[in-house]
Amino acid sequence: MRDDAPNSWESRADRFSLYGFTDLPTIHDRGAVILTHGEGPYVVDVHGRRYLDANSGLWNMVAGFDHPGLIEAAQAQYARFPGYHAFFGRMSDQTVMLSEKLVEVSPFETGRVFYTNSGSEANDTMVKALWFMHAAEGNPQRRKIITRINSYHGVTAVAASMTGKPYNSVFGLPLPGFLHAPCPHYWRFGHPGESEAEFTTRMGRELEAMIIKEGPDTIAGFFAEPVMGAGGVIPPSAGYFQAIMPILHKYGIPMISDEVICGFGRTGNTWGCETYDFMPDAIISSKNITAGFFPMGAVILGPMLSDRMQAAAEKFEEFPHGFTASGHPVGCAIALKAIDVVMNEGLADNVRALTPKFEAGLAYLADHPNIGEWRGKGLMGALEAVQDKANKTPFAPGVSVSERIANSCTDHGLICRPLGQAIVLCPPFIMTDSQMDEMFNKLGDALKKVFAEVA
Ligand SMILES: Cc1ncc(COP(=O)(O)O)c(C=O)c1O
Repeated sequence: MRDDAPNSWESRADRFSLYGFTDLPTIHDRGAVILTHGEGPYVVDVHGRRYLDANSGLWNMVAGFDHPGLIEAAQAQYARFPGYHAFFGRMSDQTVMLSEKLVEVSPFETGRVFYTNSGSEANDTMVKALWFMHAAEGNPQRRKIITRINSYHGVTAVAASMTGKPYNSVFGLPLPGFLHAPCPHYWRFGHPGESEAEFTTRMGRELEAMIIKEGPDTIAGFFAEPVMGAGGVIPPSAGYFQAIMPILHKYGIPMISDEVICGFGRTGNTWGCETYDFMPDAIISSKNITAGFFPMGAVILGPMLSDRMQAAAEKFEEFPHGFTASGHPVGCAIALKAIDVVMNEGLADNVRALTPKFEAGLAYLADHPNIGEWRGKGLMGALEAVQDKANKTPFAPGVSVSERIANSCTDHGLICRPLGQAIVLCPPFIMTDSQMDEMFNKLGDALKKVFAEVA
C-alpha cells in the first residue's frame, strides 16, 4: 500500500512530521496522503490520485480548492498591502471593512469584532475577555466556564479545557474551573422510556443544578456549538436552546455560540443560532470565514458584551490582548470575498437545495443493521456504526470500525472522517448533485465491505 522507499513522500513525511490528530497504526500501515493541489471539491495526491473530499478539508474549504475569485482577492491584497497588525490603534482598511461586514451579517444590531488566527484562539480570547470584563465590573470571582460533554472548542490550553473530550486528560486538562454540562444527544443519552421532550427538560434541569451547585456568581460564561461538530455531528435535542437560554439569562451568564463550524451557511442559514432560533451574546467564527483560504478566527460581540467590554477596556485604558497577525489585511480581504462568495454566488442556496438529498442519502445508508443512527443538519451529517442496532452497542474499540470505513473510502477516492465510531460528512457547498451521488455510492460500498468483515 505505502511506498517505503527512503525517499518516498510517505517516508519523508514520517521522518520529519510530528503527526497531530492522526491514527498512527493507520499511518504505519498506509502512509500519509500527501496532496499537491485541488480541483473544485477534489484533492489530488503526489501519485496523481484524485479524492472527492467529503469533509471540505477540515469543514472549511466550502468553496472548493481552486475558487478563482478567492485566489484573485488574495493576490490583489498581497500586491496592495501584504501584512499588518491591529495593535496601537493601527489596522488595515480591510480590517475595518471586514468588522463592519461581520456585524452587518451577524444576528446583532450592533457589535465589535476581535481577530485571531484560529478558532481555538478565538475561544481563548473570548474566555480572557469574559474574565477581564467581570474583573473590571468588580466580579473577579466570575471565572468558571461551562461547556458540554462531547463539545469541541479547540486545542490551546483554554480551548482544550473547554473541549468535553476525554483525550485531553493526557495533557492534565481541563484546567480548574472548566465544567462540562451534559451532552444533549437524545439517541445516545436518553434514558429508557424518556421522551425527547422529557430529555430536553432534564438537560435544562441538570445545567441549572450545576450552576446552583457551583454558585451562579462564579460562572463567567457558557459556550455551545449549535450542532456539535467534532463531537460527531450532534444536533441538539428538540427545544434544547429554548430550554437553556432562560436559565442562562436568569443567572446573568453570557451565552457564546461557537460557530466555527456552523457559521456561514453550514446548517442552512448564515448562523447555527438562526437555525436553532436563539440569540447568543457573542459568536465565535473561523474556518468558513475565509472559506479556508487563510487562517483566521473572529470573536463577534453582540451589543451587551460589546458595551461591557468597551467599558472594561476604558477602565483599564486598554484590553491587553492581541496576536501579531490579528486582522491581517490579506486574511480580511479574503474573508470579505469569501462572505460574498458564500452569500451571493449561490453557495448558501446550494446548501439548502442539496440538504434533502443529503439527508435522504444518510437515511438510506442508515437502513443497514450496523448503522445505529444517522443525524445531521444542513450539509453536516454522520452515520453511527454499531455492533448491535437494537441495543445501540458500539463495536469493540480494537475493531477500529470507523477508521476501516474511512480507509476503504480513501482507497476508492473518497475522503471522509472517522469520529469515534461515526463517519462524518461535511461536503463543500459547491458540491453538485452527481458528486453527491459519487460520495454516497463510494461510502455505501465501503460500509458493505467493512461490515461484512467485522460484523
Ligand atoms: C466548534 C469549533 N470550535 C473551535 C475549533 C478550533 O478551531 P481551530 O482548529 O481553528 O483552532 C474547532 C475546530 O474544528 C471547532 O470545530
